[in-house]
Amino acid sequence: LAGSTLRTFVERANPLANGQDTLTVRLTVPVLGWVGFAISGTGQMIGSEAIIGLPDTGEVLKYNLNAQNTAGVVPMPDSQQTLIDARIEQDRGRTTLVFTKILVEEDEIPIEATGQNIFLTAFGSGNTLGVHASREPYTLNLETGELGGGVSTRNSSLWAAHGWLMSIAWAVLSPLAIGSSLLRNYFRCCKEGLWFQLHRGLNMLVVLLTTIAFLIAVAAISQETPAGADASHFSTGISDGHRTIGLVIFLLALAQALGGMLRPHLPAAAENSKDEEAQGPEEQAAPTPQKSTARKVWEVGHRAVGLSLLGLCWYQLQLGIRLYYSIFSLDGVGTALTALWVVIVCLVGTISVGLIGDKCIGLNDE
Ligand code: HEM
Ligand code: HEM
Repeated sequence: LAGSTLRTFVERANPLANGQDTLTVRLTVPVLGWVGFAISGTGQMIGSEAIIGLPDTGEVLKYNLNAQNTAGVVPMPDSQQTLIDARIEQDRGRTTLVFTKILVEEDEIPIEATGQNIFLTAFGSGNTLGVHASREPYTLNLETGELGGGVSTRNSSLWAAHGWLMSIAWAVLSPLAIGSSLLRNYFRCCKEGLWFQLHRGLNMLVVLLTTIAFLIAVAAISQETPAGADASHFSTGISDGHRTIGLVIFLLALAQALGGMLRPHLPAAAENSKDEEAQGPEEQAAPTPQKSTARKVWEVGHRAVGLSLLGLCWYQLQLGIRLYYSIFSLDGVGTALTALWVVIVCLVGTISVGLIGDKCIGLNDE
């Protein structure tokens, strides 16, 4: 807010707003440029709702801030453009944004007439909407006028834990688990059924880590949301869909593991075998080794869902890493993404070479 002035005025039962309570804001910034004032749940740009004035056209509209780039700054639908007396003016090197907004509107972050609010102001160095020259979150109590800079910030260690757990689960453990199924013929020489124990064990661990990391994310978002504000859990509009995709992945992973445990079993050949997947090929081949139709369908489904889930997770991992670096304004996102893809490509490469080797040597034919 350095160099800026902000005046606010709450009017109860404003006749201009059909008797609703309103807030009038007059914000002057020390440059000629676009000006934005956002109502924020968290002090973060993403997820906030902004009023932005563009001096060239004089247009002042309400926007959703979905991402930290111009494409993510999207005007709200016409039905939500309810500002009263909104204008933007430039004079002697300064730009002033003025508007009156209804305090509580449907599907929007409510403004507290008596309690504390988190607002953001931002302005650009030119009239075209783009990267901001200055941006600042602060708290403001509209009743007492008390202004605070101590806005609750986001908890970077919780998000780092979330990211590491998800990355270990889906970039390392799950490829290993699926690899042990694909390369099961190699494991035969050690112990019959070893591939299955690895596949089941590693994937159970994946599901466990995913559950923990999922709960950390939900708890972190709840913790970072001020009382009364909407946390927007799993919202599609925020963070390029990461929140929604995350919920889908969590549910699919649970379903996949459950499906694995409840699978239709292979034809019973070795009664004494603890697990039918532990049978050798010759045992399965015993009397009439016909797999049931249910089993065949399950195998196709389990493979299709398992591989699609893995692909979706890789997409989600890189999205999460980008978000983390952007939210905490960190350098080095390129290195982190490269590391992620190197790990994935190495594992997929090794498994592919193993599969080709299996085909060439014909491990299954001995
Ligand atoms: C398969 C992997 C992943 C899944 C399933 C997943 C899941 C989720 C979910 C469900 C949320 C939102 C929780 C809620 O709305 O209450 C979330 C948010 C978030 N995740 Fe992930 N995540 C994954 C990978 C990552 C990675 C690798 C990072 C990197 C650090 C990351 C960083 C974040 C961040 C920063 C947010 C907050 C975004 C926001 O405020 O909109 N995620 N994640
Ligand atoms: C999120 C967890 C899981 C994922 C992503 C997953 C993924 C996969 C994939 C992609 C395959 C096919 C690999 C191939 O073609 O050889 C597979 C095979 C298999 N999985 Fe899973 N799986 C998971 C959990 C489980 C669990 C918990 C069990 C058992 C308790 C299980 C049992 C099996 C069996 C028996 C096969 C072999 C099916 C066949 O012969 O085609 N899976 N899994």
